[in-house]
Amino acid sequence: MAERINTPEFHDSAELHVRGRATYVDDIPVPSNCLHIVLGLSKIASGEISKMDLQGVRDSPGIMDVITAKDIPGKNDSSPIFGDDPIFAENEVFYDGQVIFGVIAETLESAKVAIKKAKIEYLEKPPIITLEQAKLEKTLLCAPKTLSQGDFATSIKHSNFLVEGEISIGGQEHFYLEGQAALALPKEGEDIQIYVSSQHPTEVQHKVADVLGLPLHNVTIEVRRMGGAFGGKESQANLPACIVAIATHKTGKPCKLVYDRDDDMRITGKRHDFITSYKVGFDENGLIQALRFQHDMRCGMSMDLSSAIAERALMHSENSYHIQNIEIVANLYKTNTPSNTAFRGFGGPQGMLAMERVIDHIAHFLKLDPLIIRKRNFYADHQIRNRQVQRTPYGQIVNDCIINDLVDTLEQTSNYKNRRQEIENFNKLSNNIKRGISLTPVKFGISFNKLMLNQAGALVHVYSDGSVYLNHGGTEMGQGLFTKIRKIVAETFGIDFQKVKISATDTNKVPNTSATAASSGTDLNGMAAYFAASQIKDRMAKHLGDLYQCEASDVGFSDGKIIIFDKVQMTFSQAAEKCWMGRISLSSTGFYKTPDIHWDPDKRKGRPFYYFVYGAAVSEIIIDTLTGESRVACVDILHDVGRSINPAIDRGQIEGGFVQGLGWLSMEELVYANNGTLMTHSPATYKIPTCSDVPNNWNIAFYEGQGNLAETINRSKAVGEPPFMLAISVFFAYSHALSCLQVKYPNLDSPATAERLYFAQ
Ligand code: MTE
Ligand code: MOS
Repeated sequence: MAERINTPEFHDSAELHVRGRATYVDDIPVPSNCLHIVLGLSKIASGEISKMDLQGVRDSPGIMDVITAKDIPGKNDSSPIFGDDPIFAENEVFYDGQVIFGVIAETLESAKVAIKKAKIEYLEKPPIITLEQAKLEKTLLCAPKTLSQGDFATSIKHSNFLVEGEISIGGQEHFYLEGQAALALPKEGEDIQIYVSSQHPTEVQHKVADVLGLPLHNVTIEVRRMGGAFGGKESQANLPACIVAIATHKTGKPCKLVYDRDDDMRITGKRHDFITSYKVGFDENGLIQALRFQHDMRCGMSMDLSSAIAERALMHSENSYHIQNIEIVANLYKTNTPSNTAFRGFGGPQGMLAMERVIDHIAHFLKLDPLIIRKRNFYADHQIRNRQVQRTPYGQIVNDCIINDLVDTLEQTSNYKNRRQEIENFNKLSNNIKRGISLTPVKFGISFNKLMLNQAGALVHVYSDGSVYLNHGGTEMGQGLFTKIRKIVAETFGIDFQKVKISATDTNKVPNTSATAASSGTDLNGMAAYFAASQIKDRMAKHLGDLYQCEASDVGFSDGKIIIFDKVQMTFSQAAEKCWMGRISLSSTGFYKTPDIHWDPDKRKGRPFYYFVYGAAVSEIIIDTLTGESRVACVDILHDVGRSINPAIDRGQIEGGFVQGLGWLSMEELVYANNGTLMTHSPATYKIPTCSDVPNNWNIAFYEGQGNLAETINRSKAVGEPPFMLAISVFFAYSHALSCLQVKYPNLDSPATAERLYFAQ
């Protein structure tokens, strides 16, 4: 692929976004008979529904119908895998905010009025809300998951020093700007068309088909774009889609459902909160000899994607460190709270935060700079590795490591050492204001843990006027996937990217797709689109070669022109017309599956990841110890994107990921009352970072390496999730500042809110 591909085009919808003209589900023009749905939610966290009187709701003005579990022709389930997420509660409710019924009305306003007239009585049971309660009641969703390498039990006994501890890691609300939304249109016969804000149109298609008792070919799902998703629309967009499908099936009319912010926050699951305990043995240089983690995870009322999230947490608990004797356990606890789900990093961030905590704790014990401990334990870089095989706890050989070189470079460019010294001197003299600095690394595995998900398809048409239509199985959630793939196709034909039309993801065009997740959207769909375009290009080249009596390989495609023997013969448009006249097929599908990966799910060993993404960040923070208030003063990032397909988009992902991580670790706090009511269910009580929280001084650079060693499209690397974890440096910068205040290890829990920073002193 041409070098030119590396250009910073704007996001294809940038202008539409800023003008408010991009079409989201709620903006799609609807037929005048479209009905609106509002949901009736459980007001208790656990118990039986003893009486449900919805007559008042039905009698309310403007109400067309009410739907409950009884109106579902097929299965009452919206779960991604395990069949344990009822669409409408049947007899029992499992969390405060669970959907019990839906009101279908001519207007949104009349539905909102009617919903208040429901009379529901419950036989309440004592709910299990906190992880502590769940542990006490042993509400495990499945057998504990374990991962190990070497011999922890023996090595811990022979270790020189020992440290034990525990960290509580908070959850996180996705806070996508566009709430969950779906619109269903009845089509001919039993056919139904659904527009939904989902990362996973194929799964929505499956769930809707099951709910209505139809074969998949009756159900079409379309997604033009999401107003953010961050994992929150990987499985949990199924629910609104199933509800509009049921409503349309029952009424025969178009039906729309858009969660308002409070409902969205109450109904949907979040990032899993963890309590992680650790025990680590190490020598006087800080080399880790034995390490054990126990991750206790709050999963909420059902499994959702918790099983896979727990596995990714296990597989990222060693982060960038080669630890010979390690044992990791994950316990998945069921609670009467919303079902926690995918969120950028998918368990990786929690695993890594725990690992960095261990390093920080060892450094404090040995009175050394944590960076020294980090470096002592890194996997060796591939160039300097002495044929000695280094394996991750799940058996994958790490042969693409660059973390030593990357961290050394960042240490220099950020002037880390001098700044740390200067900060410690400052802290000695300053009474109330304290500063802290930390450098933390990221190593993140790319590919879905489940082998079968690592496949993608695309569909490309060249029309006879030379304009190109592109469709693929990935979805756009703001991450710039469509912009990247458009560029890949344009480069393949040697035409301007404007000539390639991006189209909405559609289960009728590319079937059997995977979720756009695990950061692999470009790797998978980009390659599929490249194959589709290449096939058309090869056919065109062959036909033009025949016309000009030369080989197909003599036909060049560049700058919108066809060049044969160094001479411009025609434009790409003319070539398209010539091929059409010559009865050449100008449409093709493309298919890609990630090569070389394999996985034994029972032993949890294999090569689950095609490659790793590496990065590191230095963060400096400042705390007012009298109030606990703080801010991030300065951040230096060095991140590996391989050979970038679009540096502007990649940079956007690094910035957005980092700020979202910063929010998770320093200010976003979910509070459930003892009875299971989410107290932080609106922007008024749940604090996400804003422009003013972005570091004033922010330097972002791409690591200059050889590109991806794995044969990805353009040798690029996935970028969606890894930068989120660069924000872990912020958390340990707080830890540094606090450790300047006291002799004791600060034992900071996440998020490091003003209250926590105040009380940690
Ligand atoms: N960026 C934006 N703007 N909005 C999003 O919802 N989701 C993130 C990341 N970046 C997200 C985002 C998550 S969780 C993933 S897995 C990836 O994008 C998915 O897209 P990709 O595979 O194309 O990187
Ligand atoms: Mo991202 S959490 O894999 O949708």
